[in-house]
Amino acid sequence: MNWNLTAPVDRQKFDPAEVFAAGLDQHHIANTAYPIAHLTTMRPYRVPRALVQQTAPQDWEQIDRLGLYVHIPFCEARCGFCEYTVVDPALIHSSENLYFDLLLKEIAAYRQALGTTHKRLVGFDIGGGTPSVASLQNIERLLEAVRDSFQLPQGVAISIETTPKIAAQQPEKMRGYYDLGIRRISMGVQTINPRLLQEVGRSATSVSYNLAAAEAIRRAGFRRFNVDIMYGFAHQSLTGLQATLEHVIFLAPDYITLYRTRYKGTRIAAQAKNVSLGEVNAQAELAKDMLLAAGYFATPGKNTFSRLAGDVGTSDYLTERVIKGRPYLGLGLGAQSLTQHTLAYNSGAAEKRMEHYRAQVEQDLLPLQDLYHLSLEAAMAKMIAVSFYFGEVNLPAFRQKFGLSLAQAFPAEVAFVLGQGLMHYIPGHDGAPCSLRLTSAGVQGYNGVIALFYAGAVKQHLLELSAAPVFVIPSLSGIPLQTQPAE
Ligand SMILES: C[S@@+](CC[C@H](N)C(=O)[O-])C[C@H]1O[C@@H](n2cnc3c(N)ncnc32)[C@H](O)[C@@H]1O
Ligand code: SF4
Repeated sequence: MNWNLTAPVDRQKFDPAEVFAAGLDQHHIANTAYPIAHLTTMRPYRVPRALVQQTAPQDWEQIDRLGLYVHIPFCEARCGFCEYTVVDPALIHSSENLYFDLLLKEIAAYRQALGTTHKRLVGFDIGGGTPSVASLQNIERLLEAVRDSFQLPQGVAISIETTPKIAAQQPEKMRGYYDLGIRRISMGVQTINPRLLQEVGRSATSVSYNLAAAEAIRRAGFRRFNVDIMYGFAHQSLTGLQATLEHVIFLAPDYITLYRTRYKGTRIAAQAKNVSLGEVNAQAELAKDMLLAAGYFATPGKNTFSRLAGDVGTSDYLTERVIKGRPYLGLGLGAQSLTQHTLAYNSGAAEKRMEHYRAQVEQDLLPLQDLYHLSLEAAMAKMIAVSFYFGEVNLPAFRQKFGLSLAQAFPAEVAFVLGQGLMHYIPGHDGAPCSLRLTSAGVQGYNGVIALFYAGAVKQHLLELSAAPVFVIPSLSGIPLQTQPAE
């Protein structure tokens, strides 16, 4: 295997109890968005800029199945809580066509560099931003280019995102998506609390938009309809969250996804300190109870609840990433790509501007900003962090990807989560364990559990940020949560 040499900082071993406590203390950042502080923690793996163009395609040679993500960085307005790569809304009209021209050129560049026509897509998400801000013609151009440049089997559901406002006001666009072969649609409701919506400057959601949008999406023919809601806002009350959940359940989507607010890099970042772990855990618990009572199902720790039997509810793209650790190619401004041994970021993620991305695409370059050649430890941490979208690690997929078992790779950490009742093994059809899954106590200690599997440099970063935390989570009694800050 072509792993990078492990940096000494990633070889460090830490006491699992201390890392667990640091993850709880830093609960706003210890999540699936991995790595943390990559400019420092991933520095040893960064490929020099001069070598990026020639190195990036190499690992793709071995890969014949991949997920595809295309990023559309446009929104009518930027919500105060949003962390995604979105350009200045004033630029939409002048840049939309140009942006899609660039995307098509980027697809052509990858087709040339990787020979993508022989590669099969296992999932395809069009995300953002708000891709439905774009004209139907531009989405059609994009789909044509993807179908021409990759193998896209019929059974793979293409997924797209919209806001309630757009779906409500442009039902013909929803029908157009269905006619183009898009089969899953995701809509962000977030909250129906008018004060909160106003505070974060979000005009894309209102009860009347949500109702009209759900109707337009159903009428268009969609059977895989997801609604996102958010919790973990400062001053968000349990009764306010309950009202949002009642409304969303009334909309009767097939899936409901709960997003816990991530504050880093948002306009409301300073509010993070006003939200305690106890509050977010109580909110998550309320949401889970209401969704289960309404006939939606998710295993412990999973964010997406589905009411369709045998359907996990996430897009095929995300499901393949989470369960199988499948490689994915990200196209467009700031998009992320992962192969077996490399992690790459397209230009534009940090500055949220198109200039650099555009210049690279126009010069027929792959529009990459940073490329990391991963060590085994960094790659394992990345895969496991993403697995926690489903609250569990798929053991055969882990072994197949890395050539060793999870317990061999993380003996102390696996012993800790089992011993403390935070995770447990789930047997497969043959009776052998097929997954290591969060228990309900583990769900409450989610941020601590996930940190246990981070690479050494990232654990160290969390320990340094953490200031002698003492957390008391009643159902986690028995866990040694008191710790001293790292020296
Ligand atoms: C890329 S957005 C697309 C949805 C669409 N633009 C909308 O807002 O309706 C996907 C989802 O990410 C979630 N999200 C956005 N910012 C977030 C943050 N800071 N923390 C957690 N979830 C967030 C929201 O639930 C949103 O619906
Ligand atoms: S939440 Fe959706 S609409 Fe709001 S800025 Fe983010 S991507 Fe755009």
